[in-house]
This record gives sequence, structure tokens and C-alpha cells, in this order.
Amino acid sequence: MDQKCSLDDFRPVRLILPGLLSFYGLPIPYSLDELSAGEAPSVVDGLMFELHTLPVDGKTVPDGDGVNVYVNTTDVRESSLVPHEVHMAAVERNLARAQRNYAMADALHKQITDAGYKVLNINDEEILARKYRIRLRGIDAPENQQPYGKEAKDELVKIVDGKCLKIQVFDEDQYGRFVGDVYCNGLFVQKRMLKKGLAWHYTAYDKRPQFEKWEKEARAKGIGLWALPNPEMPWEWRRKHRQNRF
Ligand SMILES: *[C@@H]1O[C@H](CO)[C@@H](O)[C@H](O)[C@H]1NC(C)=O
Repeated sequence: MDQKCSLDDFRPVRLILPGLLSFYGLPIPYSLDELSAGEAPSVVDGLMFELHTLPVDGKTVPDGDGVNVYVNTTDVRESSLVPHEVHMAAVERNLARAQRNYAMADALHKQITDAGYKVLNINDEEILARKYRIRLRGIDAPENQQPYGKEAKDELVKIVDGKCLKIQVFDEDQYGRFVGDVYCNGLFVQKRMLKKGLAWHYTAYDKRPQFEKWEKEARAKGIGLWALPNPEMPWEWRRKHRQNRF
């Protein structure tokens, strides 16, 4: 399978990049002028920022309402955010590898991953990518230990595995995850999860009427977790299990 996502998924940024950084395939820090000139502001209410991810590795999906994604740091927004130490570690790692000093290269890569970045090999192209932990906004899927927890996770893996996602981030949660709406080739992922009866509308945090409607439809059909006589809300389940732990 071609691991590279269609260029339509990315912003059409074309810059001729001279020198050492581009030689090593590393991001060039963009100036704010370039950023504001290239990017029209988004009009989605409450939107913090939008991510365009590299192909997702389905094996890293933790459950039915979370994904771990990587973003190409040559992306306009990302390039200006890469910390200097990460940048330097990536340059030094390339040098270490060129000198076949693999112990040094591994140590440098650990430094990079500890900082939330990773060097990925995609189609024989090495790129520095930034990791994001994403919580799907407005839905709550059964926990892995609950009935239909596995089905929910499997469905999410099926949707996102190998795909590039568009993620609109609105918030950050108490666990440091970004809370966002996730789209996969035009498919609204939360909608799919709700309609398949594999997630609840997370009403404590989300009031969107479409979400309520999609959950209602699944309930009426009795599909997914709605086939259970007495499905337990994941937030109730978590509350109980937290109490048992202490
Ligand atoms: C990462 O972004 C750069 C610059 O836009 C591009 O040349 C490269 O192909 C991208 N890599 C992947 C794997 O998408």
C-alpha cells in the first residue's frame, strides 16, 4: 500500500529550501509573516487548530474514543513549533547514522521521542513527526473491559488504520490529550461510531443535537451496545472502578 497520503490532504505549501536543513529533510522554521500570509483563518467556532496527520498506525489506537497520531513537522504550523533541542537532536542523529554510530543515534532518538517527536520512515523517506494523543470529541465509547469495548476499538481501528486524518481540535483534557472532531476521507468518525451503536453521546461535555440524533437512531435499531438489555454508561463504569481502587 502506498503510505503517502494524497496531497489534497495537506496544505499546498511549496517552498524551495536551501542548505543543511533540507538536506537532512528537516523542517524549516517559518516566520509568522509567512504563516499569516499563507493561511486564511478558520471560521469554525471555538476551534483551536487543525491537524493533518500522517497515515495512522491502527495498532496504536488505545480504545474506541482515542487515537494516537503523528504530524509531519514540515507542515506549516508544526515547523514553527519544533523545539530547538529536538531539531538539533535530529540533525545529530543523522550525522551519527552516517558515521554508523548506532548507539549514539539510538540515544538521540530517545531524546526525540521523550520530547513527543519521532523519526518515522514512510515510503523510504525519513521524516521528523510530532505525536498527538487525541480524544474524540463528544462521544464516550465503552471501556475496553466493558461489553462492546473491544468492538468499539476494532471499529475505530478499521476506520483509521493506514489513513490520514483531519482533526479539528477544540480543547485539551485533564490527561493532556487534545479533544477534537476527527475526519477520515470525508467520513465524520464520531458520527460513524454513534450510528453503529459503539459509543454514547457524551452529553456532559457535548450538546450537539446531531450527536443526540445519531445515538437515538442506533438505540431505536438496537444495534451495537444497544442490543444489551441494560448497557452501562462508560462514565458510570469509570466512576465505580475509581471508587473500588481507593
Ligand atoms: C512531509 O512534508 C514534506 C513537505 O511538505 C513533503 O515533501 C513530504 O513528502 C511529507 N512526507 C510525508 C510522508 O507525507
